[in-house]
Amino acid sequence: MKLLITGAGGQLGSEWVDFCQERGISFNSFTSSELDIYDVDKIENTIVSLCPDVIINCAAYTKVDEAEENKESAIQINGSAVKVLADSCKKHSIKLVHYSTDYVFAGTKSDKENNPEGYKEEDSTDPVNVYGYSKLKGEEAIKDSGCEFLLLRVSWLCGQYGNNFVKTMLKLGSEKKEINIVDDQYGAPTFTDQVVEQTFELIQQEKSGVYHLSSDGLITWYQFSKEIFKQKRIDVKVNPVSSSEFKTKAKRPFFSKLSTKKISNIERIQILDWKEGLQRLLAKL
Ligand SMILES: NC(=O)c1ccc[n+]([C@@H]2O[C@H](COP(=O)([O-])OP(=O)(O)OC[C@H]3O[C@@H](n4cnc5c(N)ncnc54)[C@H](OP(=O)(O)O)[C@@H]3O)[C@@H](O)[C@H]2O)c1
Repeated sequence: MKLLITGAGGQLGSEWVDFCQERGISFNSFTSSELDIYDVDKIENTIVSLCPDVIINCAAYTKVDEAEENKESAIQINGSAVKVLADSCKKHSIKLVHYSTDYVFAGTKSDKENNPEGYKEEDSTDPVNVYGYSKLKGEEAIKDSGCEFLLLRVSWLCGQYGNNFVKTMLKLGSEKKEINIVDDQYGAPTFTDQVVEQTFELIQQEKSGVYHLSSDGLITWYQFSKEIFKQKRIDVKVNPVSSSEFKTKAKRPFFSKLSTKKISNIERIQILDWKEGLQRLLAKL
């Protein structure tokens, strides 16, 4: 099996490259400057010359706040470019593995009350920000293309590469004595090493369709930060604040837990507790 990895310079793409190298999996990887997923001709030429069996699309516009002012760019990369990839996959009978987000859901208080286990794969979507909307456009393009696909929605992605909440907390913890962290947005982190291992397991088992993948647990960003500082024995005072006190350009869902019931029913897939996932990540940083 030969893989083609796009967005290979990002946090998930880099994890995929490591994984393939360590396991001796045949792959070609491309950073954004090497292969723009919106470039139809380049995508076509690359596919024709490399003949991959599976394309792993880790390329995305992920700047949630900036997306509010750069709607066109977000939709172009997360929607239109994903359509380019999906149409090429259909044309050449290649499986497309793609990642989406918990932010496709509305994440209301009533959803948390009615649905404490989290959103299921078939639940209706209703994004509250441009980033979520653009990712939903990508999901729709894949489904409409008729290609064989594996679409994994992940939440609060963290890993050893790139930028993420854990790395930001470690930086703030080394610079400040006191910080404010939002305590009214609920969800669960997803760790990139788990994402790659479990995606590969799904590919090997020839699974397709939509799956939710995250850690076990339901926490707020405040609780997440407290555990990061506890595990790293960093002495910093963390104040819980509300979203209204911590203004951001993009609105965030109040509740964006993804139910992992469907994926955890698959053989050899094990969902880790969020504290254990964090421990593994901190050991690598
Ligand atoms: N990060 C999260 O918290 C989170 C949460 C839920 C879901 N997800 C999803 O998980 C996936 C992986 O996210 P991530 O955190 O690994 O993102 P990331 O670190 O921002 O990486 C995305 C990569 O895509 C590249 N890229 C952007 N536009 C491109 C284009 N037109 N052609 C080719 N490459 C392009 C970026 O390159 P440049 O840096 O050069 O632009 C970057 O290397 C994405 O689908 C994301 O939507 C992420």
